[in-house]
Amino acid sequence: MIGTPLPHESASLHVSGSAPYLDDLPELKGTLHGAFALAPVAHGRLKSLHLDAARAYPGVVAVLTAADIPGRNNAGPSVVDDPVLVSDLISFHGQALALVLADTFDGARRAARLVTSEVEAFPALLTVDDAKAAESWVLPPVEVSRGDADSALSAAPHRLSGTTRVGGQEHFYLETQGASAVPREGGGMHVHSSTQHPTEMQHLVAQLLGWEAHQVSVECRRMGGGFGGKESQSGQVACAAALGTWKTGRPVKVRLDRDDDMALTGKRHDFLVEYDVGFDDDGKILGVRFTLASRCGFSPDLSGPVNDRAVFHLDNAYFLDAVAIRSLRCRTNTVSNTAFRGFGGPQGLFAIESVVDAVARNRGLDPLDVRKINFYGPSEGPDRNTTHYGMRVEDNIAPALVDQLETTSDYRRRRQAIAAFNASHRFLKRGIALTPVKFGISFTATFYNQAGALVHVYADGSVLVTHGGTEMGQGLYTKVRQIVAHELGLDCERVRLLPTDTSRVPNTSATAASSGTDLNGMAARLAARDIKKRLDAFAASENLDLGWDELVGRAYKARIKLWESGFYATPKIHYDPKTMQGRPFFYFAYGACCAEVEVDTLTGENHIVRADILHDVGRSLNPAIDRGQIEGGFLQGTGWLTTEELWWTPEGRLWTHAPSTYKIPAASDCPADLRVDFWETDNIEETVHRSKAVGEPPLMHGLAVFFALKDAVASASGPDAALNLVAPATPEALLRALGGLVQEQRS
Ligand code: MTE
Ligand code: HPA
Ligand code: MOS
Repeated sequence: MIGTPLPHESASLHVSGSAPYLDDLPELKGTLHGAFALAPVAHGRLKSLHLDAARAYPGVVAVLTAADIPGRNNAGPSVVDDPVLVSDLISFHGQALALVLADTFDGARRAARLVTSEVEAFPALLTVDDAKAAESWVLPPVEVSRGDADSALSAAPHRLSGTTRVGGQEHFYLETQGASAVPREGGGMHVHSSTQHPTEMQHLVAQLLGWEAHQVSVECRRMGGGFGGKESQSGQVACAAALGTWKTGRPVKVRLDRDDDMALTGKRHDFLVEYDVGFDDDGKILGVRFTLASRCGFSPDLSGPVNDRAVFHLDNAYFLDAVAIRSLRCRTNTVSNTAFRGFGGPQGLFAIESVVDAVARNRGLDPLDVRKINFYGPSEGPDRNTTHYGMRVEDNIAPALVDQLETTSDYRRRRQAIAAFNASHRFLKRGIALTPVKFGISFTATFYNQAGALVHVYADGSVLVTHGGTEMGQGLYTKVRQIVAHELGLDCERVRLLPTDTSRVPNTSATAASSGTDLNGMAARLAARDIKKRLDAFAASENLDLGWDELVGRAYKARIKLWESGFYATPKIHYDPKTMQGRPFFYFAYGACCAEVEVDTLTGENHIVRADILHDVGRSLNPAIDRGQIEGGFLQGTGWLTTEELWWTPEGRLWTHAPSTYKIPAASDCPADLRVDFWETDNIEETVHRSKAVGEPPLMHGLAVFFALKDAVASASGPDAALNLVAPATPEALLRALGGLVQEQRS
């Protein structure tokens, strides 16, 4: 059961098209559909709204504005800064001004386009550079340091400073944001929401209506992908559906059209990275100074913890002895950026890996050797095992894991073969890179690291489980089912999972930070274990030797409690948000990727020749699910760093608001030669069956592709050209780094 590659619990429903997503749920009689009217400027004061034309549109039942909200006009986490509907200040192009309710989805959308407004436009800050120059922050700058970076920098034999950039990313979940609300008797409401965070949706809706939390229940069976984009950003549509239902007394469904979803909801933060690094002849880093500046958009949303996680991951797998970090959380007149797989960690890794690569090219060394010399460890001798935030690295498996991948990927021989290939090809150039990942597992906000579950054993021996986590395709329900079945000694078929619902398990955390199974799997296991203990004690006291069904039937008649709740809180973690020191993470997940690419230097076109991934999942609960997470994460990370590019017009309108201009990887972008292996050792911490979280870390294997592209650029145009390559490394960016070949030849 544990460790077997069982298919995803909904696999047959997925492939046969019979797994219901939000928009597939049967519609109740009288259901209305909602659509937003969007702001026409990036920054300004809303002077008036003209709603008559929309109200007159056939089938329109109501057009609502901020004035219709009875309670708190907020759809964001923690800080009251994310209006459901603009009441006064427009903060980004495409922000929601009004909500049209009509009897068809199409009618609501068409009528929404008829809403017009009068606006006093203000100048807008759109980019990190704009906001940084204006010192415009959503949260105050944060500084973290260890040792004396300045002295280390001036004493270092070599010194290099530079700037690099990494782009944002649209989540592009296949199912867009959506929610539907139904009234319940006596001032209650039930909301179906495509969300990673049902409890937060419950509180947002309650506060919007001026209600108490117990009046609202929120349910989610599955999402068609979340990737962090439905941790907080599901709030606006949930609130809109609830507002519509409260106002009209009818069921209301709001699901976003793709273009509206892309304009209206937050994305991954893009970062500007400035560094100053001192190192020795071998490329060992002696001191480093970083300034990270990220585009947070108009409000804090989750930008605080996202940027903190970037700071926590600036070391990746490397010991940074003397380090000084400044983290700038830039306020811009763009959509409020949010959680995205890795939650700032990938941007932190991008920064340090860019520095390591630059150091290697400066010294004329193989970047892999510079990576190795900077690893944490060894465990003997002077301490090289404590992170810049004061957490000890207790299971430093990165060096051994990287050694193994270096061998199995045949890195050294292939590097020589690539040199030979590049020497004999004028325009085609190949490159290779092998990059490690070390990723901290736990929510950095310590209180989030808790979960509950409810296990029912019915008198016929069948089992029903609910827990606080949500399913977004990652296989959480499959793993929880395996864990409970194993605990009770049953086949998975005897265990069924119900949709996640705040009325069954309360006070849940977002399913995020990769900790869904660590938290909910453990809570469900504890509940099942208690039931099993009672059954075992009953069997012993009655001297029974029965099969499961008979034992359960007898226990029921003997009035033994056959259901139980479980609760789990992660041990050992603590951290002081003011100093950013402590142990924010229960443990680290590791991995490494070796990627080889080929670039056509005349066009910038490129592809991955081969990729090898060695990934640490601890003791795998389900190797089939884990493999899917590793492959999917790798490709999503590759898309982030290569083809996915967000563009805004000078007026601040998102130009890449559809798949016509925004390019996520397709199946054909998966390397033909992709080799995924597990580093299978027990988690040193007591996680459920010694497994490790797997959701986010593999995304960062995309870094190997980016640095392989850099390597190819270096082969074609020299090390300085490689320094100029920023992410995403689109064909255009590659050509720019290669020296603008095409443009120069044409002019
Ligand atoms: N896998 C699929 N198929 N779909 C998703 O939306 N989200 C990722 C990851 N893998 C996601 C996914 C993100 S951002 C996180 S935090 C984890 O899954 C959340 O689930 P877990 O904690 O159960 O791993
Ligand atoms: N990761 C993901 N989501 C979160 C976190 C985190 O550390 N903190 C709050 N939401
Ligand atoms: Mo994942 S970004 O923690 O939802």
